[in-house]
Amino acid sequence: MTTLSEKILTEAESEIESEAESQAEIEESTEPGPGHPAEQPSPVLAVRDVRISDRAGDREIVHGVSFTLTPGSAVGIVGESGSGKTLTCRAALGILPAHFEITGGSVEIDGNDIAGLSPTRWTDLRGATISAVFQDPASYLNPSIRVGAQIAEVLRVKKGLKRRAAHRRAIELLRVVHLRDPELVHAQYPHELSGGMLQRVLIAVAIAAGPRILIADEATTALDVTVQAEILDLLADLRERTGLALVVVSHDLAVVAQLCDEVLVMRRGEVVEQGPTRDVLHHPRHEYTRLLIAEHEQYGLEKFLAPAPEEDA
Ligand SMILES: Nc1ncnc2c1ncn2[C@@H]1O[C@H](COP(=O)(O)OP(=O)(O)OP(=O)(O)O)[C@@H](O)[C@H]1O
Ligand SMILES: [Mg+2]
Repeated sequence: MTTLSEKILTEAESEIESEAESQAEIEESTEPGPGHPAEQPSPVLAVRDVRISDRAGDREIVHGVSFTLTPGSAVGIVGESGSGKTLTCRAALGILPAHFEITGGSVEIDGNDIAGLSPTRWTDLRGATISAVFQDPASYLNPSIRVGAQIAEVLRVKKGLKRRAAHRRAIELLRVVHLRDPELVHAQYPHELSGGMLQRVLIAVAIAAGPRILIADEATTALDVTVQAEILDLLADLRERTGLALVVVSHDLAVVAQLCDEVLVMRRGEVVEQGPTRDVLHHPRHEYTRLLIAEHEQYGLEKFLAPAPEEDA
C-alpha cells in the first residue's frame, strides 16, 4: 500500500533528523506488506455509532453516525445546515467545541480508540495521520507570514525537516497541489492569492505531514464552479495516487457524487440514509434524500453519475 508520505515526502526522508518517527512506526505496523493480500485493508478511520452531546444544554445533537474509511476510499456526508456534519468531523479530529463531547459509540484512528488520548498524542496525530481542510482558507493562514514559510513550519514541526529541506519540500507541495508557479507562490502573502489558490495552499498545509485521512468540510463551497471542479480533481488525484482517504462534507450532492464511494445523508443529527453513492442517488429511499436530489437536479447532478445498471433514464 502506498502512503502519502512515501509519495510526496520521499526525498525528504533522508533529511529527517530523528529517525525513529512514530508516524513511520504506525504505518509499518498497520499496513499489509508487499507479500500480504490487500483484499481486506484495515480501516484508517472507523466511526461507530457516534453520539455527540451539548453538555451546556444537556441535549444530544448527533444521534449515532457510523462509517469506515479504508486507504484510498472516500465517504461523503450531505445534509441540511445544522444536521451535525461538522460536529461529526470535529469529533473525529478531537476538536469538538467547548461543552460538546462524544457521549456514545467510538472513533478509531488506525485501530486505536481516540477516547482518552492525551493532548500530546492528539498533537502527534493531527496533521501526521488525520488532517482537515475547511471553508474560508484565508482564516486559517497567518496574513503576515509568507505562504511558503507557513508550509515549511508544518514540515519542521511534524516531520522534523531542517530549514532548507523544509523550504524545498514546501515548493514541491505547492507543485503537488497544482499551483502553476510554486516558487512565486512560496514567496507570496495570503492576501496576494485568489480564493482557489488559497484553498490549494491550505490543502498543501493539510497534506504536508503525509496524513492518511483528509477531512474536507465544505472545502470548495466558497469557490466558483470552475475553481471548485479543479479542487475536486486535485482531491481525487491525491486519493488515487497516494491512497489518501477522504471524508467529504458538502451540502452539494454533485460534489459528493463526483468524489465519494459511499454517502451518508444527515438530517437533524440523524443519518437518514447511507450506502454506496450510486445506489443512494439513483434509488433514494428516504423522502429527505429525494428532496435533496430534486433540488440538485437543476444543477446537473446527472453528469457526475454513471447511469444505473437497469435504467435508461
Ligand atoms: N460551537 C457551537 N456552539 C454551539 N452550538 C453548536 C456549535 N457548533 C454546532 N452547534 C450546534 O450543533 C448543531 C450541528 O452543527 P454542525 O456545525 O455540525 O452542522 P452542519 O451540518 O455542519 O451545518 P452546516 O451545513 O451549516 O455547516 C447545530 O444545529 C448547532 O446548533
Ligand atoms: Mg458544517
